[in-house]
Amino acid sequence: MVKPKIAPSMLSSDFANLASEAERMIRCGADWLHMDIMTFIQRMGSHFVPNLTIGAPVIESLRKHTKAYLDCHLMVTNPLDYVEPLGKAGASGFTFHVEVSKDNWRELVQKIKSNGMKPGVSLRPGTPIEEVYPLLDDENPVEMVLVMTVEPGFGGQKFMPEMMDKVLALRKKYPSLDIEVDGGLGPSTIDLAAAAGANCIVAGSSVFGAPDPAHVISLMRTSVENAQTIS
Ligand code: DX5
Ligand code: ZN
Repeated sequence: MVKPKIAPSMLSSDFANLASEAERMIRCGADWLHMDIMTFIQRMGSHFVPNLTIGAPVIESLRKHTKAYLDCHLMVTNPLDYVEPLGKAGASGFTFHVEVSKDNWRELVQKIKSNGMKPGVSLRPGTPIEEVYPLLDDENPVEMVLVMTVEPGFGGQKFMPEMMDKVLALRKKYPSLDIEVDGGLGPSTIDLAAAAGANCIVAGSSVFGAPDPAHVISLMRTSVENAQTIS
């Protein structure tokens, strides 16, 4: 059975106090820290999201303050350029988007592994789930799929329940795969995601905005555990 992993999204933290925010989340029971890496660099005529967050220098600084698993989600058009810098900085997971990696995902996966990170692939709401199957069925496969449940770019958006069909299809085909959901997860939506088979749960605003983040983290973990005993 795949282990539940609750990953607060540091995008909703106080970036000016990242180290203490990370420590606070781990104290509250977080398994992973989700790091949203976005750039505004124009490549191939477009950028991936209309926002700009953090990069390898910040991961490197944070790594000096925590041993936590840093689950990096790359919302960039050129993920290959970030593999080495993030590996050196101490990232743990490296999840790239399938939409920008059609031509080089094999090279990406190989490079992510050789730089000591766990490779994952993500897809935007409009991208069919079938697009990630070749990356899972390859002899050198990705080890996690991140199903976006909002349009990437910002925290605090509304969960898209129709994305659960993707999670269901994935869980049916890959019983022991780490399946992560990201966007709009919290006490009111976790049961849907857990029932569909998600085990890695990213949550930004619902955790950081709660008076008792530990309670929200534990509630989400229990939901995943309960869904696993039922199925
Ligand atoms: C959105 C990011 C998410 C975001 C989630 O592009 O990938 O990780 O922080 O935030 P919430 O949980 O507030 O929807
Ligand atoms: Zn994310």
